[in-house]
Amino acid sequence: MCGIIGYIGEENSRDYLISGLEKLEYRGYDSAGILVFDGNRMKYEKAKGRLDCLKEKIKGKELDGAMGIGHTRWATHGAVTDENAHPHLSEKGMFAVVHNGIIENCEELKQQLLSEGVGFKSETDTEVIAQLLEKYYSGSLINAVSRTCEQLEGSFALGIVCKECPDKLICVRRASPLIIGKGEGCHFISSDVNAVSRYTDKIYKPGENVISLVKKDSVSFYDRDLKPVEYEAVTVFADSLSAEKGGFEHFMLKEIYEQPEAVEKTISAFDFETVKKKINLQKVKNIFITACGSAYHAGVLGKYVIEPLAEIPVQTDIASEFRYRRPVIGEDTLVIIISQSGETADSLAALRLAKEKGCQVLSVVNVRESSVSDESDCVILTQAGTEIAVATTKAYSAQLAVMYLLAVHLAFERGRIEEKSKEVFLSQIEQIPESIREILRRESELRRIAREIKDSGHLYFIGRNTDYAIALEASLKMKEISYIHCEAYGAGELKHGTLSLIEEGTPVFALACNDTVFRKTASNIKEVRARGGRVYCFTAERYADEIEGCESVTAIPEFNPFFIGSLEIVPLQLLSYYTAREKGCDIDKPRNLAKSVTVE
Ligand code: AGP
Repeated sequence: MCGIIGYIGEENSRDYLISGLEKLEYRGYDSAGILVFDGNRMKYEKAKGRLDCLKEKIKGKELDGAMGIGHTRWATHGAVTDENAHPHLSEKGMFAVVHNGIIENCEELKQQLLSEGVGFKSETDTEVIAQLLEKYYSGSLINAVSRTCEQLEGSFALGIVCKECPDKLICVRRASPLIIGKGEGCHFISSDVNAVSRYTDKIYKPGENVISLVKKDSVSFYDRDLKPVEYEAVTVFADSLSAEKGGFEHFMLKEIYEQPEAVEKTISAFDFETVKKKINLQKVKNIFITACGSAYHAGVLGKYVIEPLAEIPVQTDIASEFRYRRPVIGEDTLVIIISQSGETADSLAALRLAKEKGCQVLSVVNVRESSVSDESDCVILTQAGTEIAVATTKAYSAQLAVMYLLAVHLAFERGRIEEKSKEVFLSQIEQIPESIREILRRESELRRIAREIKDSGHLYFIGRNTDYAIALEASLKMKEISYIHCEAYGAGELKHGTLSLIEEGTPVFALACNDTVFRKTASNIKEVRARGGRVYCFTAERYADEIEGCESVTAIPEFNPFFIGSLEIVPLQLLSYYTAREKGCDIDKPRNLAKSVTVE
């Protein structure tokens, strides 16, 4: 996802901009650029490719100025080219803009400007913003910014430099993240607090459509009606340690190994009393879990645990569908939003729809300073720390732990289980981190399987119940970093069509750890093998000897079937990692992907 950074102070902005962009790289991008302004001239450089390409381009160049903006671009409008990289300047050079988001009506705005004789250089929606600013500017900066924003439909977080205003940066956001960092004799603007956390732990969080005029020693805020508004700087604790690899080859591998600690911290920080204070549980007659990607998969597993334990109807849906299909929800619905970043556009939109419908909203997020967190009735914070790899692992595992804890506490609260059972379940959940550590010690077998399957064209992951939820996540992990086509299926669903794809040698990963459905999955394994499929089985230790004819059997330590998914996913994460590594893929920053998808 795009990232913006800006600096205004007494020193040269160039190094602050590059350092900020380095911290934004994890969001996923395909080009980058910086602009500095010395009060007279705006100088900029842009480059497609990794940040190193930009660094190479500016080496030895005179790029000095006490104000500047920078950007990592994840292409939405226009190809990946130097010209389409940000920042974008207006035709006469009065304004320079960096932008995270999508302007949905950019084409009609561009046609209007073209008809007025404005010349464009790029294919981007962002350049339209720069041209509108120049069109509306007649000496008042906030009027020009306000008039421009009123024309825009869609999402944006903007960093703006105006040639006639050498003492202030401008920023404004709508449905995209943006913070202002308060430094010593300087200020920063950024999409992500981690990009400025090495310089400050004090940030302003301007609201939607608030225009911020950022000077080196002060910030003034104006609402949509251009009335001054006040914001206090808040202290935040960005997790800078997580932004280092700590001796691992990739962030993803480091974060896989950080899972025991992430789960441990999440379990100990979980506070159901707060949930009871902020959510009126007596009103809740049904639960709807909605999210995207891996967070959605955590929700699917949540359904398989909450519904049977708490005996309450639980539905799940991906947020991009939920938000447009007019779900039948209301005051008796508890909507649970799961999001690592807390900024995923579809999940945020689903949250806002739930609020409109009068639902209570509980969110499970990993970033305290996030839009989802700000707009929920109750927030459960996973304690995974900053997650850098685009492919989530430790945050996902922490989300699973929260699902289990919610299930057990809701079950007890609703009188479905006794105190003793609750204590037994909770003590089992507390054993998850150590069991994960045990599995992490047995990774060598997975490297062999990775070498066997790395050139496959298609991989299938099958399972039932909680195994099916894990199959969804295992399939996504594998495809998003190894680029091998993968599909996940309910094991019982295979024979309703997909079995036609299984031929001699087709690799199938059979997940059979949940002992309530083991026998059923075992017969599905036979179906696959009868058609020549090569089955790699992941099962609980007690069944390992029963499984015959598989290419491999990976035994998972005995565990409560409700919670065994947290153990089962670990070898599958490692398998996807080693497969991608065998293929030489860019594991931490897979092609086309972003860590936080803040656009639709
Ligand atoms: C998972 O590895 C991917 N990075 C992606 O599916 C991610 O889970 C999804 O985009 C949701 O992100 P969120 O948890 O930050 O909302």
